[in-house]
Amino acid sequence: MDRKIGFIGFGNMARALADGMLLSGAAGPEQLYVCAKHEDKLRLNAAKRGITHVCATARQTAEESDMVIVAVKPYLVEEVLTPIREALRDKVVISVAAGISFDRYEQILLPGTHHLTIMPNTPAAVGAGIILCEEKHSLTDREFHDFRQLFSKLGMIQILPPSQFQIAGDLAGCGPAFTAMYLEALADGAVLYGLPRETAYRLASQMVLGTASLQLATGDHPGAMKDAVCSPGGLTIAGVAALESGGFRAAVIDALRAVQKKR
Ligand SMILES: NC(=O)c1ccc[n+]([C@@H]2O[C@H](COP(=O)([O-])OP(=O)(O)OC[C@H]3O[C@@H](n4cnc5c(N)ncnc54)[C@H](OP(=O)(O)O)[C@@H]3O)[C@@H](O)[C@H]2O)c1
Repeated sequence: MDRKIGFIGFGNMARALADGMLLSGAAGPEQLYVCAKHEDKLRLNAAKRGITHVCATARQTAEESDMVIVAVKPYLVEEVLTPIREALRDKVVISVAAGISFDRYEQILLPGTHHLTIMPNTPAAVGAGIILCEEKHSLTDREFHDFRQLFSKLGMIQILPPSQFQIAGDLAGCGPAFTAMYLEALADGAVLYGLPRETAYRLASQMVLGTASLQLATGDHPGAMKDAVCSPGGLTIAGVAALESGGFRAAVIDALRAVQKKR
């Protein structure tokens, strides 16, 4: 597993992926090649991770790497990749740019370039991410196998048809912000009644992690999991009723609706 992995763009998402690779041992810092717009910031972010292959340009990153991860903002993809299409022709190109589909890449890259569009989320930094993969791609079986082997260290891999890719990306990509708001609010409630702030955050996070792990392990319906904690006339059902009065579930559904409307 001595493949060279290049990052074109080394912002939040690219750093989360690099951190996940380094933390899990899926790649060592000597395998990573990075470039970005501002060299000083790039050098700092690379040094923090022990990465020494700091490239001057996207072209150099592509030329040095076997797998190239495109992690610039979506509006820059065409502008950054078009001049280096030749250099990408014999590479495995993995894009994380939101909304740039396989079909769009077929227009941007040279015919025959091997590419795959994915939508990761930031928990990939600790190996607990979601890596959504567009069903349609042009990697060989071997390349896709290698991709899976590498990215499965960063989280759950889910292959999706184009019709589901966007909404799944919104759930996985915006969800961390919504969940972080829930963690903060839950902790606020506990702080109101005297729990120290740090303890409240730690317990809230572990509770969400545990509940999610239980659901994934058992496949139980979330409603049944809620019922299992609510005894008749008990404490939890009082809290559940208060959440319903506050429009909790409607607010969460509306959050995803707002994301769709914003497009
Ligand atoms: N953040 C997320 O949760 C998330 C989730 C899924 C997908 N994505 C996708 O990931 C991509 C990056 O998002 P982000 O949040 O990581 O954005 P970001 O933090 O702004 O990072 C963008 C990176 O692109 C670099 N860049 C800009 N112009 C460049 C150029 N001409 N050549 C090479 N690098 C250049 C920037 O360099 P400087 O820092 O020096 O300006 C920066 O390192 C987007 O396409 C987004 O849709 C993000």
